Amino acid sequence: MEKFRVTPWEVKGEVDYDKLMREFGTEPITQGLLERMRKLFGELHPLLERKLFYTHRDLSWWLDNYEKKKLIALYTGRGPSENTHIGHLIPWILTKWIQDRTNAPLFFQFTDDEKYFFKENLSIEDTKRLAFENMLDVAALGFDKKKTFFILDTHHAGLLYPLAVRVAKKITFSTVRAVFGLNNSSNIGQIFYTAMQAVPVMLPKHLTGKDHAVLIPMGIDQDPHFRVARDVLPRLGYNKPACLHSKFFPSLMGSSKMSASSPDSTIYTTDTPKEVERKIKKKALTGGRDTAEEQRKLGGRPEICPIYQYYMYLFEPDSKKLEERANACRAGKILCGECKQELIDRINKFLEKHQEKREKLRDSINEWLLSEDHMP
Ligand code: TRP
Repeated sequence: MEKFRVTPWEVKGEVDYDKLMREFGTEPITQGLLERMRKLFGELHPLLERKLFYTHRDLSWWLDNYEKKKLIALYTGRGPSENTHIGHLIPWILTKWIQDRTNAPLFFQFTDDEKYFFKENLSIEDTKRLAFENMLDVAALGFDKKKTFFILDTHHAGLLYPLAVRVAKKITFSTVRAVFGLNNSSNIGQIFYTAMQAVPVMLPKHLTGKDHAVLIPMGIDQDPHFRVARDVLPRLGYNKPACLHSKFFPSLMGSSKMSASSPDSTIYTTDTPKEVERKIKKKALTGGRDTAEEQRKLGGRPEICPIYQYYMYLFEPDSKKLEERANACRAGKILCGECKQELIDRINKFLEKHQEKREKLRDSINEWLLSEDHMP
């Protein structure tokens, strides 16, 4: 089998998620932890229940803090290298769900510096512009504005840099080389960057003077940053952050991660209904058979079907209906065309509302940035 590779900047090959968990040293989210969350929050989000979020670091500690009514915070982020696609929404959706239930303040970092360092073809103006586009998608998900603080790295440099230098002093080049696979020809911005991603963990305490327990929902590719940060932060007087890791949302072509390198296998939040229809009808793979006749006889295979994954992770919240769909597929009772059409309708319905909210937010999106008037 082709060897897979996962770093914050590259996902290659077919990802073996159990192996990745062992390589990164994260802990599985056990049934016990799921039940604890169900009890604490009154219900369980499908992304947890269906195990798209599958590992963590120190989640019990964070829940303890919440339960004992100690100070907690949430942190996640976005590297603005392109418009937002549906896969990007996954950690944000879970983050909002947790914010709704815990009332925790959220720090959301937009790393225009990072994407400038790592993307050959983007100027710093490009990544900044994309950051503002991405902010619209985050805000449109319905976060509580009063408790949500956007950080844009170049904009908030005066606040972030004095904290980043303290982190940077404690990280050696050999650590960065080993953990992130950077090397002697990496630009020095890339080598420094991980210090910037650690900083929002420090902000709740920096801004209020009080210790917080910070939880970071993220795609598992981001974990190496926090492995390093968890090592450094206690030495600077801050708690280690807790982490919650998701698998990657599959592309329409069935590979491990949706990505910009093949825009046709990705649904963007800005796609028109026609584009969504074209991509799903013409480009998406399924677990179906070659002919309708064969499919009626042999049935389809939801476990290998990207379309089914869309239902499972985002577009069928009702677990009973999801199972009925899988069973009908296996029994050859629904064909791929029908299943695709229904997904197209659901995605377009979601996008229509989402795009409307996005545009309404455009004029006031600056108000979400952390500022003197907008602070925890
Ligand atoms: N590096 C992330 C990306 O490329 C952006 C990011 C910054 C982030 N801080 C984060 C992601 C915290 C998850 C959690 O998308």
